[in-house]
Amino acid sequence: MTKDKRIKTICNMVFTPVVAEIGADHGYITKELFEQNKITNAFLTDISSKCLQKALTNFKNSSYNQNCTFLVGDGLQALSQVENKQNIGQIIIAGMGGLEIIKILKDEQANFYNQFVLQPQRNVVELRQFLQDNNYFICSDRMVKEGKIYYNVLKVKKVDKQVLLTQDEILFGKSNLVEFNPDFVDYLKFEIAKLTEILSKKDMPEKLTYLKQLQNILTNKTKGV
Ligand SMILES: C[S@@+](CC[C@H](N)C(=O)[O-])C[C@H]1O[C@@H](n2cnc3c(N)ncnc32)[C@H](O)[C@@H]1O
Repeated sequence: MTKDKRIKTICNMVFTPVVAEIGADHGYITKELFEQNKITNAFLTDISSKCLQKALTNFKNSSYNQNCTFLVGDGLQALSQVENKQNIGQIIIAGMGGLEIIKILKDEQANFYNQFVLQPQRNVVELRQFLQDNNYFICSDRMVKEGKIYYNVLKVKKVDKQVLLTQDEILFGKSNLVEFNPDFVDYLKFEIAKLTEILSKKDMPEKLTYLKQLQNILTNKTKGV
């Protein structure tokens, strides 16, 4: 799994036949889900009609085009007029900032849905904190490296009460800590090398504490803890 690792990891977390992709742009994730026969129907939305046009063009000659609904709108508001929202088993929000994802999840429209797949481009720590504080259980939280970029892909569901995360789980994602994930080990090594280089030139106590934390996790990983 080298090419499109990010998209494949997202698709691996989808297990319901009807999904909505918020911020679909070209719709590559939804397209892959149809090609894997994982879904029967999809809603593709985007805040920008110009971006959604790319998905329309991309899907035009496909057999599954008739099973897709294309909607322009901000976040989950795009689905507000959809009847039978309960058929949408999972909401996918990928390729945008973590703070934008938080904004989308704060919308009252989020109350209609229970299961989400989230892939923030940045601010994943803030997103994990938000999810914990708002009764979302993080079922899976995996880092994946594609090219030189590390992505985090989270499968989450709503629960009745808070499931508290440790500080390490908020910072690094639980699955990365408890499962073997070579991309996460690669990330730790990359961050350690970067911080060691910075600290060789300047004293920065906060960064030194973080470096030690990373080294500890890497030691535990290589010991198989
Ligand atoms: C980089 S693309 C990601 C496309 C696709 N989801 C993926 O991960 O491959 C981000 C898309 O999100 C859209 N977007 C950003 N904020 C949004 C919002 N609040 N509601 C809907 N779409 C949004 C942008 O217009 C853009 O098309």
